[in-house]
Amino acid sequence: MENVILQLSYLIGSITFILGLKMLSHPDTARKGNLIAAGGMTLAIFATIFLYEYTGGEGQPVRLHNYLWIFGGLIIGTTVGTLAAKKVQMTSMPEMVSLFNGMGGACAMLISLVEYNKPDVKDTGTMLVIVLGMLIGTVSFAGSIIAWGKLNGSIKDRTIPGGQVINFIIFAGLITLVILVVAGIVPDMPGLFYAILALAALYGILFVMPIGGADMPVVISLLNSFTGVAAAFGGFLYNNPVMLTGGILVGSAGTILTILMCKAMNRSLKNVLIGSFGGAKTGAAAGSKEQGNYKEISLNDSAVLMAYAQRVMIIPGYGLAVAQAQHTCHELEKVLNEKGVEVVYGIHPVAGRMPGHMNVLLAEADVPYEKLLEMEDANDQMGSTNVVLILGANDVVNPAAKDDPASPIYGMPILEVEKAEHVIVNKRSMKPGYAGIENDLFFRPKTSMLFGDAKKVLQELIAELKQV
Ligand code: TAP
Repeated sequence: MENVILQLSYLIGSITFILGLKMLSHPDTARKGNLIAAGGMTLAIFATIFLYEYTGGEGQPVRLHNYLWIFGGLIIGTTVGTLAAKKVQMTSMPEMVSLFNGMGGACAMLISLVEYNKPDVKDTGTMLVIVLGMLIGTVSFAGSIIAWGKLNGSIKDRTIPGGQVINFIIFAGLITLVILVVAGIVPDMPGLFYAILALAALYGILFVMPIGGADMPVVISLLNSFTGVAAAFGGFLYNNPVMLTGGILVGSAGTILTILMCKAMNRSLKNVLIGSFGGAKTGAAAGSKEQGNYKEISLNDSAVLMAYAQRVMIIPGYGLAVAQAQHTCHELEKVLNEKGVEVVYGIHPVAGRMPGHMNVLLAEADVPYEKLLEMEDANDQMGSTNVVLILGANDVVNPAAKDDPASPIYGMPILEVEKAEHVIVNKRSMKPGYAGIENDLFFRPKTSMLFGDAKKVLQELIAELKQV
């Protein structure tokens, strides 16, 4: 009977993961989805603690009994996780995700270490699962910690001379060692097993080290999928369906997200991993092109243009997140609404620095979700928009993506803001954005620059609008 309850808990846990993941795909249901999946996970954890049985030393069924360790770990983990998640700034979210993901990889690594050191005889299949779980978990752990260090600035981008060759040699060495250990070809197994652990850690470090700091979201998503796969191996090992489902879901979701991010930037994964987009190389080329003059617009003129518009489209970008101007932006929207102006938001899929960055940012300021238009819909409405107000966005509106085959962002779909009547660009200077390239939009006839920090400019714009 107790086993039936345990299996039922695992089934419920698996269903809540799938349901939660589905609900995460829409901002209206995302919070609830997260809670439902967390509820399922809690159920599976407690069912395992109190109902799971394994075969003990004397061949007797034994329950988990080391409650001090189990609950001590649970309490510490829950406290640290909750505090960190509550405290984290939106712009530091990729950093935290990376650290948490690293912990997942470390868990998979530790599971394999514990299972390897158990005295029972292991068949080839079990050894394969143990070794692969450890290898992938360790790569994910080491890589995520480097990614975390890069994002918080404690580790600098570093290109290692001959790095790709070294990585290839390590990778080939790892495959050879895995075959030797799993097939039991060499009797000195422990040494080889721990050599895999050390090489996997080195591989994780060297693999992430040269990647540009700004490409980290893609790498984190990839490492996330690695952790999922490593956890799924744990599921195999313990014949635990909920761990298997969870691992597979994380693995596949991470892979899909990685592909989607690459597609939205029009770059291959290979280019992200070994290219240096947004790094020093492309940045140095910026400014070399003849650009002509740009024109500025005053706060008062901007306010007048917007107050007499029928529709204003706001294009948020990374700069809006940096300025933490989402609440002020929502206030501007309300002031414009009071004047009878329709306000919508044009959301580019990779605006900002992480998937859904702008959606989450604006949701935080209670901007109604119906006002957020996905790129295709925003482009459809652009022709009937009077004023486009670009707030701290750059690459996602750069026409070079459509017009200049030599540009590193050529082919990336963009928000076609020039189809609107007027374009106002707010940023602090003429500096390039993430891709490190000039933006010809700023020099085009329809465009006017409104320089300054997004929050300050929006506050002043609201004050001006109230006078109009
Ligand atoms: P960016 O191209 O990075 O441009 C942001 C602009 O914001 C900068 O040009 C900067 O200009 C301005 N800015 C910074 N702080 C500001 C402030 N306080 N007030 C006003 N403006 C400020 O951003 P984007 O258009 O959102 O494009 C995102 C880029 O990130 C894309 O290239 C994308 O491929 C990449 N990326 C995105 C993701 C995801 S998943 N979202 C993942 C990896 C890479 P000033 O310095 O002159 O102010």
